[in-house]
Amino acid sequence: MSSGRSNELSKQKLLNWYYASARDLPWRHTSDPYAVWVSEIMLQQTQVVTVIPRFLDWMQRFDDVESLADAEPDAVMKAWEGLGYYRRARFLHAAAGQIMYRHGGRFPDHFDDMLALPGIGRSTAGAISSICFGAHTPVLDGNVKRVLSRWHASPDATETELWRLAQDAIQSQGDPGQWNQAMMELGARICLPRRPECVACPVHTHCALAFSPVEKKQTNRVAVRDVHWRVHLHLDGSNAVWLQQRPGDGIWGGLWSPPVTELGRKPSKKPCHIHQLTHRRLHLYSHISKSMPEGEGRWAEALNDVAVPTGMRRLLQKHGMRA
Ligand code: ADE
Repeated sequence: MSSGRSNELSKQKLLNWYYASARDLPWRHTSDPYAVWVSEIMLQQTQVVTVIPRFLDWMQRFDDVESLADAEPDAVMKAWEGLGYYRRARFLHAAAGQIMYRHGGRFPDHFDDMLALPGIGRSTAGAISSICFGAHTPVLDGNVKRVLSRWHASPDATETELWRLAQDAIQSQGDPGQWNQAMMELGARICLPRRPECVACPVHTHCALAFSPVEKKQTNRVAVRDVHWRVHLHLDGSNAVWLQQRPGDGIWGGLWSPPVTELGRKPSKKPCHIHQLTHRRLHLYSHISKSMPEGEGRWAEALNDVAVPTGMRRLLQKHGMRA
């Protein structure tokens, strides 16, 4: 975006493109802040195609803040099962409780009040307050960062500079919610990380880096640590398995799993299943246990009603459980 008239023209071109070709997504049919909040949290680390059915199911299951706040933690985790990053579900539940308690059950309409809720950061609060309340609060997720840094030829822009560019861009918008969605849409469909489709871009004539070779960014590779877990399978005569709830703060916190113990070193036998997390590669070794289980837990014959993490579910399926 250069300046003045050309600047405004480019913004209008982006909006026209968005109005003509935006994807029809369920959360774009509502300005209910509860629904938009749920969609934004799901979309933080999960792809749109995966989110669509899960969002619709969730809204059937918990159709407003109150029904979410009233739900048992287990039911919330179950509804989130398979989406990963379960902290998001715990935060949704905790925030729903706070909205009931502090805001009388009405989703707050002020940016700062949203920001004070668990799991809502500046970008998510920006999305909700612009889409639902018409506030001029930018979104700055990964897609928008990429669009802005290319548009302004600032591949090394800092977080602070990007927030300023995003704020400048939204300031003159008549409908800031649509503007934010248009920026996200451009990043998700055209201004792609490795192969931007500049030919199809509605604003390529205004973009400083259009048709330039894509800068090879040093990716911040996260170090992945190998972890080896023995999974103790206590099976009763009817093929039920013993599950315990995992502590709230660690891997798979709050979900149900057979008891596990971490092994000090890599065993010589092959793992029964390997599950990849962001910072860990879990090697799971099943161990059929003959002893009676100890401590708190429950027997489960089928896993339909229990929130079991995907990696553990796969392992149990390999042992013939209905999962
Ligand atoms: N990613 C984050 N928010 C989004 C939205 N509202 N629409 C599409 N993708 C998104």
